Amino acid sequence: MTDSTVTSLSGTALSQRPPLLEVRDLAKSFGGLRAVDRCSFQVQQGTITGLIGPNGAGKTTAFNLITGFIRPDSGQILLDGQDIAHLRPDQVFARGLCRTFQIPREHGTMSVLENLLLVPAGQSGEYWWNALLRPAQVRAEESTNLAKALEVLDYLQLSHVKYEYAANLSGGQKKLLEMGRMLMADPRIILLDEPAAGVNRTLLQSIIHNIQALARDRGITFLLIEHDMNMVMSLCNPVIVMSEGRKLAEGEPEAVRNNRAVLEAYLGGQYAATAG
Ligand SMILES: Nc1ncnc2c1ncn2[C@@H]1O[C@H](COP(=O)(O)OP(=O)(O)O)[C@@H](O)[C@H]1O
Ligand SMILES: [Mg+2]
Repeated sequence: MTDSTVTSLSGTALSQRPPLLEVRDLAKSFGGLRAVDRCSFQVQQGTITGLIGPNGAGKTTAFNLITGFIRPDSGQILLDGQDIAHLRPDQVFARGLCRTFQIPREHGTMSVLENLLLVPAGQSGEYWWNALLRPAQVRAEESTNLAKALEVLDYLQLSHVKYEYAANLSGGQKKLLEMGRMLMADPRIILLDEPAAGVNRTLLQSIIHNIQALARDRGITFLLIEHDMNMVMSLCNPVIVMSEGRKLAEGEPEAVRNNRAVLEAYLGGQYAATAG
């Protein structure tokens, strides 16, 4: 029996789209340590989904697996129902699944604007022979990219620093620049690793505002790892909780916050942190 036959047996499933992103029984060990341990969860199209859990729960490793930076030992990663577990990071990126890093990775000796112009993947200008054979098309794409970059900078309120070296930006501005680099790629889903860390209140508000606006206006789906509970509670629904490499709980933010197993996982993590 094929998968589609199975699906058609369960009435409502027929009319539903598959989740935009799904991991199934994902596993990754480092030596003897099971960083991600047969973890399964789904991210529905259009949501701002939170991924929380104590330090060492496997959240960043899950991001690295999903985005192709490390290979799973086993399990599936489905984007729109298609397995992407074997793809390289650039191939995953080209399919519209983008991520930021816990520590921003800007090109410090280039201007903010140049950082954005570097991004677009798969544009014909990347190939030198296109520049020879089809200069008009390449020029057209370059001016389109420039217009897009300027629009992105305006959107993120970074226009005033567009000629500044990226290295000279504040920590929060670097995070906005990272978001800008993703927007250049027309992402469908953005994975954010601790966007609030090391960011001042004002910029945090601006990041929250940007995430909400991008979800609302452009239909971009978000999956974000975050320790700042205020941010998670005000921004995310649903919230997925990871602990010891697995999904421990999932639900609306309030329900998750009051879940006993979740509280215990955090207390255990804190105890382990102070004891070790
Ligand atoms: N490259 C690696 N080599 C060895 N151990 C790793 C590596 N990356 C992560 N780990 C370990 O895997 C576990 C999960 O880490 P991580 O995914 O960073 O957790 P989280 O992001 O939830 O804090 C931790 O015990 C961490 O030390
Ligand atoms: Mg982490």
